[in-house]
Amino acid sequence: MKILIVNGPNLNLLGTREPQIYGNHSFETYFEELKSKTTCDLSYFQSNVEGELINVLQQSNHDGIILNAGGYTHTSVALRDCIAAIEVPVVEVHLSNVTKREEFRHTSLISPVAVGCVFGFGLESYRLALNYFETNKR
Ligand code: DQA
Repeated sequence: MKILIVNGPNLNLLGTREPQIYGNHSFETYFEELKSKTTCDLSYFQSNVEGELINVLQQSNHDGIILNAGGYTHTSVALRDCIAAIEVPVVEVHLSNVTKREEFRHTSLISPVAVGCVFGFGLESYRLALNYFETNKR
């Protein structure tokens, strides 16, 4: 099973970015751990550019996508339309519990077009999302 993890803006800074919220582990290190523990064929893409995220989603031939759209979660109609348009199921993830943060983070344009959402578990949110795909093989 081929699963793609897509991280949006500023998630390349994990480990140093606001560690009190996002922790002090880089995503790259976590990704290697995740890869070593799954039978899925895992790949990873990160971009700070909205259109690049959309291109990757449109071109995906994966069995599932785990998407942390970062700040675009709360603003991007284009990303939402893309997820609605593609066949590949998308699980939305966030490290932080967005519902107990600033009000502008309470709205996700992604959630209504995602299969489901996992948030608030730090980097483990990604493993929980991966677990969904591992246990719901199509
Ligand atoms: C985030 C939450 C977003 O509100 C924020 O803009 C991010 C990270 C998270 O993983 O908790 O960049 O997606």
